[in-house]
Amino acid sequence: MDPGPDPTPPPEPPPEPTPTEPVISVDRLVVGGAALGHEDSGRVALVRGALPGETVRIRVLRERPRSVDAEVVEVIAASPDRVEPPCPELARGCGGCDLQHAAPAAQRSLKAAIVSDALARSVRAGRFDAVPVEVGPAADPWGYRSTVRGGVDGGRFAFHRHHSDDLLAVADCAVAADPVAEVIRDGRFPDGVDVTIRAGLRTGERLVILDTGAAQDAVVPDGVRVIGGVELSAGQRAWFHEEVAGVRLRISARSFFQSGPSGAEALVDSVRRAVGTLGSSDRLADLYGGVGLFAAVLGAERPIVVERSAASVADARVNLADRDATIVRSAVERWRPSPVNVVVADPARSGLGRDGVRAVAATGAGRVVLISCDAAAMVRDLEMLTASGYRATRIEVLDLFPHTHHVEVVSTLELV
Ligand SMILES: C[S@@+](CC[C@H](N)C(=O)[O-])C[C@H]1O[C@@H](n2cnc3c(N)ncnc32)[C@H](O)[C@@H]1O
Repeated sequence: MDPGPDPTPPPEPPPEPTPTEPVISVDRLVVGGAALGHEDSGRVALVRGALPGETVRIRVLRERPRSVDAEVVEVIAASPDRVEPPCPELARGCGGCDLQHAAPAAQRSLKAAIVSDALARSVRAGRFDAVPVEVGPAADPWGYRSTVRGGVDGGRFAFHRHHSDDLLAVADCAVAADPVAEVIRDGRFPDGVDVTIRAGLRTGERLVILDTGAAQDAVVPDGVRVIGGVELSAGQRAWFHEEVAGVRLRISARSFFQSGPSGAEALVDSVRRAVGTLGSSDRLADLYGGVGLFAAVLGAERPIVVERSAASVADARVNLADRDATIVRSAVERWRPSPVNVVVADPARSGLGRDGVRAVAATGAGRVVLISCDAAAMVRDLEMLTASGYRATRIEVLDLFPHTHHVEVVSTLELV
């Protein structure tokens, strides 16, 4: 098909620094990925685009009572970890990646430091016993994403601009896997809809979901299935398959899946080490189980999967058809816990919360493996699990979203 005119005007030149803009030193990254420094007045500055140890000239974007949000307009003394961001879309304002200015190996240590810092206050307050934070495995550094979500700008797939609701049509995406990037480049969509592009990288299946509208509204490369909100609401189903650690998984249009198969395998490796060897009498509960990823690949006998989403539960029933699994469609907080030996809990960004922790503890599991994708929620959950009689023995930070500030943390806890 004719991809039409190139949507990529040259990047806007960076604004000229002005002498009135403050110069500050930053010393660390904090949850959310900004770098923390102080203005001469002592006010905290959260600076986008800076790295620990750097001296930068900043432009204030937003004032708060005790802090400001700011961006770098000039790097005066650069960190040895600083690199030129390779993606041209970033220079045009794409907000998809916010850590491309750090070398990939440095990104992992920076993320581990964010997690250590987030835990330090709990340790000082005696709410959590210190455990060294280890740097764990990572997804492939480029072309790893098998799902991207965005909007439409002038008929083309678009990401949000940095910290903005404005959309920016992109000609390519360096972190999207090739089969996804092809749809970003060549797909045409109606303005005003949200678009999700998904692919099974090991199976070649591709699926585009328009949150509103109908499948006929989109033009996509050959072999890509499109489903619209109109069809999904009318009860039509659509899915693709992916393979992780040799296991084939069905993933429905609206079911959660990790950043891609390399990220899923990095996570499975870490969780497998945390769970340890399962004996034939050991029971595993895979809470917030999604399509049954951990229950399917960890090799547990008679696993219990608890998941709230109907689409994911339907997938888990298919994916675990030969595993004698108990699949419960329920919120974890409303589930009546069964006794198990090991819990793997992988909640959404908000974490387990008080009721989730109560459900985990009520299983009586000797070992809990908690997967957290938000450092602040992780701290709260670890404090509550500690208060419920668990002790963390290992904390590993994974990089499943290279070039972004997102962290994934696998914590192993034992009942003491
Ligand atoms: C981060 S995903 C993890 C899914 C799965 N473990 C995986 O790795 O593919 C979180 C999952 O929890 C589900 N979920 C969110 N809140 C829930 C709740 N309160 N109870 C049960 N499941 C929930 C979501 O639908 C999603 O499938």
